[in-house]
This record gives sequence, structure tokens and C-alpha cells, in this order.
Amino acid sequence: MFNSEEYTNRRNLLKKEINSGIALFLGNVEAAFNYPANTYHFRQDSHFLYFFGLNNPGFAGVIDFDNDKDYIFGNDFNIEDVIWMGEQPKVVDLAAKAGVEHTAPYTDLAAYLNQAIADGKHIHFLPPYRGETIIELSALLDLPNAKVKGNASEALIKGVVKLKEIKSEEEIKEIEKAVDIAYEMHTTSMKMAMPGTVEQEIAGTIEGISLALGGPVSFPIILSQDGQTLHNHYHGNTLEVGRMMVTDGGAETQEGYCSDITRTVPVGGKFNDRQAAIYQIVLDANVAAIEAIKPGVKYRDIHFLAARVIVDGLKEVGLMKGDTEAAVDAGAHTLFMPHGLGHMMGMDVHDMEGLGENYVGYDEETKRATEFGNAYLRLGKELKTGFVLTVEPGIYFIPDLINNFRHENMYMDYINYDVVETYKDFGGIRIEDDVVVTNDGYRVLGKPIPKTIEEIEATMAGE
Ligand code: GLY
Repeated sequence: MFNSEEYTNRRNLLKKEINSGIALFLGNVEAAFNYPANTYHFRQDSHFLYFFGLNNPGFAGVIDFDNDKDYIFGNDFNIEDVIWMGEQPKVVDLAAKAGVEHTAPYTDLAAYLNQAIADGKHIHFLPPYRGETIIELSALLDLPNAKVKGNASEALIKGVVKLKEIKSEEEIKEIEKAVDIAYEMHTTSMKMAMPGTVEQEIAGTIEGISLALGGPVSFPIILSQDGQTLHNHYHGNTLEVGRMMVTDGGAETQEGYCSDITRTVPVGGKFNDRQAAIYQIVLDANVAAIEAIKPGVKYRDIHFLAARVIVDGLKEVGLMKGDTEAAVDAGAHTLFMPHGLGHMMGMDVHDMEGLGENYVGYDEETKRATEFGNAYLRLGKELKTGFVLTVEPGIYFIPDLINNFRHENMYMDYINYDVVETYKDFGGIRIEDDVVVTNDGYRVLGKPIPKTIEEIEATMAGE
């Protein structure tokens, strides 16, 4: 945990954003895996963790904006809990670590909320994303399950986003720790990407590295020589020379902060000419996008900058043609990069996505696009100092998408389909870094992970 002042300060800042009522943050409960006592690894709710810091299941935090009081509701361990799970500090002592003076058993929460509702106070809560939380909110607030999400507080969502989108120095240090764990994961993945190895051997090894060095992976590892599938969780292929292996993986720290890094390497350790040419285009887009990051620039403009670099590069290798600007305006690049350049990152890999992507990545001045490809950009709005985000351009050859576009005669002025056909066996390439926006530009977080062709070949050669 950070020190208690950090959590008190976060709650006090939230009190400046919301005028009245009560904010209710339900922490997560244990979730059953295949029978009740066999639970998934416990993951605390990121918003509860941000404001109350406690990584314990079954707690709730309350901020009373009218009376300037904070509460933790939770139960002390009983003797059976102690026998099976060991001793645990009392709730009052845990709460003190988060700077909270007022505590009560969890069973008192319903009565407390009933009284608040009877007093005419509005209960603000964030949109729940787990069934258990929906059921609990439904019971506590006397709302039908189906109406719970719709009653989430927009004022609280906006207040939380405003605070959490700006990362403090301490938070950035945590994210850098997570990137440093990702360094170990990715350099190991590179060295293991040899012909005859089954993807699962690598995925399992690097997940173990995450667990050994910090916490669980920050999302299920994406690793495949079929990198044309953007989020490929099938790890059953045996690696073959001539294929590119995508590894998209990151770790969580003890405090719950994430990394999210992607590297793509040639199986066997040497890029052939075709792989090197496409790789260099993605790398150029990654570097150009990172170098364009500074406060005041819209991330959507950087997304389109990366798209233009990709189109320029694809024209050079004969896959595209025509005017670059016009091709990007028309959306022709989306055949090759049908996703956005990146997203906010923090305690959640897609930071605060559960609150609604448009609250996090867009605002009154920057509205989300609706057309194919560009609509998948999760972050479009103007950048501010303290944002942490991913930069993850890619080029993919997705046979079904190529067939669909060609069948519909789409972008005939910009795409050389006969050449594209010869790349249907290529797979995909994505290169992703985690970056903080600084006062005058950007800083790529963590220990630099090999990314140029020379660096990757040297790492894979064990140099
Ligand atoms: N790196 C995985 C994701 O952004 O969804």
C-alpha cells in the first residue's frame, strides 16, 4: 500500500468533484472457479483499491460528501478464517492504513444506506462489471438487477476519471515496475521463439515470470505465430521458421498497476527480407507516434499520423498505392490496422474501461468515430501531463478481411489486392510500448525492451 495520506488525499480530491450525497465503492468478493471454495485469484476492484487501498475481499468503502466522513465496512476474521488463512489485522487497523477512522461490520452497510436514503441522500456508485456486485447493489439499494447499471452515477464516473487519468509520481513508479517485469517476460519470450517450440511453453514460462516477480499477468497472455488474430489466446501451435510470433503481455504489481507490452519476432531469430520490410514500417509508426506525444495534442491525430506512416511504408513495398492522406481519410489503412493506436493504462490495462470507454478516451471536443477501424480507437482526446497510455501500431494480413474488402471492391484506388494476396500467409506484427505524457513531451516507461531489428536479432542470439 501507499502511505495513508495518499488515500486520504485521493478521497479529499474526489470530495471537491461531487457536491453532495454518498459514494459507495463495493470492493470485490471472492469469485468461484469451479466450486465455491475453489476461487479465482482474488483481484480487488481497481476503484476501491485507488481510494481505499485494501486488497481484501468483501469490503466496502463509503465517502459521505455532506459530512466529510469516510467509512470502511468489513468483517474481522473469525476463528475459522484464522485457521484456514492465518491471522489478519482487525478492520479498524486495516482502515487506519488507508487513513479511514470510521469502520463498521459489513452487515451494518445495508442499515447505513437505508438511513441515508431515508434522509434524502443520493447514493452514487460506479457501473458494476461483475454479477456478484450487481446482485449486491440490487439488494442494498432496492433496485431490480436490470436497473442497477443504468442507475450508476455519471457525476461519480466523471469525478473518478478526472482524478485517475492523471498518474502521480508514485503511480508512475509502480507502472514502471510492471514494465520492468514485462522486460523479463518479453526477452525470455524472444529467446524461446525457436522452431519446434510449442507456443504454450513460452506463454506458460512468461506467465510464471510475472507471478514470480510481481503479481499475476495484467490480462491473459496473447501469444501466437498467428498474429493476424489480434487477441489470439490459442497457444497450441508449434513454431515454424518463416512465421512471426506476436507476444502481447504484461504484469501487475502488488499495488495492482499494470504493464502492457507487445513485441513481434521472427521464429528462429533472423528476419527474412519480407518480414524485415513490414516490421520496419510498424517500428517507424511506433516511433513516430511516440515522438509526437505531448500535452495538448489529440491522441486521435497521433493515431492518424501512425496510419499515414503505415500507408507510406506499404506503398513502398507495393501493397498500397495513391495519395497517402486521401487513403487514410478514406479508411483504406484499416485493412492492415483495424484497431486503434492505444488506450489509457493504470490499474486496469484498459484504464477505467468499465466506467465507459467514451468517458475515459473522449470528451465534448473529441467524439468517437463510428466507422470500421477508427471506431476501435479507445483514446482520442487531448493528452495531458500525467496520462499513461499505450502506443501499439500494427500491420496484419487477415485473410477473411482481405477477402471481404476485395469482394466489396473497397479502396480499389489505394490497395494492390494482387500483391496483398501473396501476404495472406504472413500473420501480423504489433509493437507496443507504455508511455507517460510529461510537461514537455513523453517518456517511454521502464527498462527499454529490444525493439529494433538489430536488437531483436541480438537478443534472440543470446548476445
Ligand atoms: N494488450 C491487450 C489489450 O490492449 O487489449
